[in-house]
Amino acid sequence: MRCPPPTLAEDAHTGLDDFLPCMLNFAVYHFFRGIRLMRRKFIAGNWKTNLTRDESVALASGLAEKVGSASSVDVAVCPPSVYLDCVAAAVSGSAVALGAQNVYHAGNGAYTGELSTCMLKDVGCDFVILGHSERRHILGESNRDVNLKVLAVIEAGLVPILCVGETLEEREAGKTRDIVAEQYIGSLAGLSAEQAAGVVVAYEPVWAIGTGKVASPEQAEEVHADLRSLIESRYNAEVASKVRIQYGGSVKPDNAAELLSQPNIDGALVGGASLKVEHFMGIIDAA
Ligand code: PGA
Repeated sequence: MRCPPPTLAEDAHTGLDDFLPCMLNFAVYHFFRGIRLMRRKFIAGNWKTNLTRDESVALASGLAEKVGSASSVDVAVCPPSVYLDCVAAAVSGSAVALGAQNVYHAGNGAYTGELSTCMLKDVGCDFVILGHSERRHILGESNRDVNLKVLAVIEAGLVPILCVGETLEEREAGKTRDIVAEQYIGSLAGLSAEQAAGVVVAYEPVWAIGTGKVASPEQAEEVHADLRSLIESRYNAEVASKVRIQYGGSVKPDNAAELLSQPNIDGALVGGASLKVEHFMGIIDAA
């Protein structure tokens, strides 16, 4: 309990006047600290545009077998959309959940080439990765596009994994905090506090994705802590203490434990190292 010692003037009227606010601070602090400790770690594999059908099923079955029917951390795999169905069958009955890598914001209809949230639910998805830097930078998705998708995904009862992160140029120009804040705020426009609490955020510095250049635990923790403060100022302390913030960008079995031990890092979004059972299991075991 960290309450300042009473000043001389205050000494004259100690007792309940000081005791009650102090106890209230103590209770609030421990209530939200308790919630923080309750945040389950969440390790998700982003398979991107990799693997064949047979390889996808083999990887999913291997993970399902190793993870089993219960896990102390949440685990999900996000295969290419054409393999969602067969991967769903392979992980069925295990604690491995299914996620998609993208979705269209409108429902079923005349949207050639797109997938709807109904379809993702129909094949057994619980999660959808949104705003990944490859979609923002290669496919030109804006915060507005991501926002429409986030709203549709929440409306459908699915959980968005919202990716945010700066490029190397932006980091070197000292813009990391602004970029991450702009992406978070723009992508979640119009959400209630309750809805925001359910969004998983993945901080993925673009310069660390697929490059082998992982952010140091201190660099990642700094951005995660900033993000949590932003969430608190935008919503409230309860939402901030509930939101799970994953780190993504060259996470491997040998760097996962240190990253995941940071107080504001609640999991990992893993690309390359999620494509082999032993590598992904190494990260899950480190969580
Ligand atoms: P990486 O990809 O682990 O291969 O760096 C992470 C991601 O893009 O989600």
